[in-house]
Amino acid sequence: MILVTAATGNVGRELVPQLLQAGQQVRAGTRHPDAASFPQGTDVVRLDFGDPGSVRAAVQGVRAVYLIVPETVDTDALTGSLKAMRDAGVGRVVLQSGFGAQDGGNPLGDAEDAVRASGLAWTILRPNWFMQNYNQMFRKGVRDRDEFAEPTGTHRTSFIDARDIAAAATATLTQAGHEGHAYDLTGPESLDRAAVAEALSAALGRHITYSAVDDDGFVAFMTGTGESDEEEARGIASIYAPIRADRTADVTPDLKRLTGRAGFTVHEFAQHYRHDWER
Ligand SMILES: NC(=O)c1ccc[n+]([C@@H]2O[C@H](COP(=O)([O-])OP(=O)(O)OC[C@H]3O[C@@H](n4cnc5c(N)ncnc54)[C@H](OP(=O)(O)O)[C@@H]3O)[C@@H](O)[C@H]2O)c1
Repeated sequence: MILVTAATGNVGRELVPQLLQAGQQVRAGTRHPDAASFPQGTDVVRLDFGDPGSVRAAVQGVRAVYLIVPETVDTDALTGSLKAMRDAGVGRVVLQSGFGAQDGGNPLGDAEDAVRASGLAWTILRPNWFMQNYNQMFRKGVRDRDEFAEPTGTHRTSFIDARDIAAAATATLTQAGHEGHAYDLTGPESLDRAAVAEALSAALGRHITYSAVDDDGFVAFMTGTGESDEEEARGIASIYAPIRADRTADVTPDLKRLTGRAGFTVHEFAQHYRHDWER
């Protein structure tokens, strides 16, 4: 049995069917099992990192865990959850970290340290910025205003599709030989935001504009579209610094090594998800 945490999120909802397709028994953890919809055959359980009893119950009989750490989960809850996994005899944990998190001073870097110190066999995936941010936090901007705004100037990012992160997760959860390894996951190309806007324009058949803004402009845009309140928007603005330092631009070979595929392009992503931005 493989447990997928945060299974209703961007990666979890892709990973559950991919693992089933690979012939695995899958348990999906969510705080709201009654509201969740998963493919037939999925064992859906209540899992809230803030409720240690729910974590202890969810990890019983599990051989591997795909660990996604939501922004609201603190280090104590994470450490307690890792202990519950060890006590239950979980064989390995694959942590979803983030590109550059190993540089430290960020919650995912702390999560990596906790996983390494847990005594569990571990693997770390470090995906770059998700393409799915454009149909999540920028959905309303693109759909209603034909625009998205980011504090990123002309800096490039090798965006990755959440479906490809799930494919890499499937490989590391089902194959031997990944223990003690960290993988830097990117998509196949490095694009600036003007090129992302071009891909969205081509998929939608209308002109989408990228506005290069400063942090205040970003907060104004996110609150103006109704995607965030001011506090959340300031928090998101604060994680853009590595992009402006050109630390998210490199394309790495790790996704292809794990899955045999270079991953979806931003053009393909925009085509496949175009209904999300239709008015
Ligand atoms: N977005 C990016 O560009 C990016 C890039 C690199 C790394 N990351 C990292 O990836 C992770 C997010 O992954 P994602 O986008 O796949 O997830 P997501 O879409 O943000 O979904 C997170 C899920 O976490 C669940 N959740 C929230 N609080 C919880 C709690 N207390 N206990 C258990 N589950 C809880 C929610 O499910 P329920 O409501 O069903 O419980 C939600 O669906 C974060 O650690 C983020 O820092 C993101």
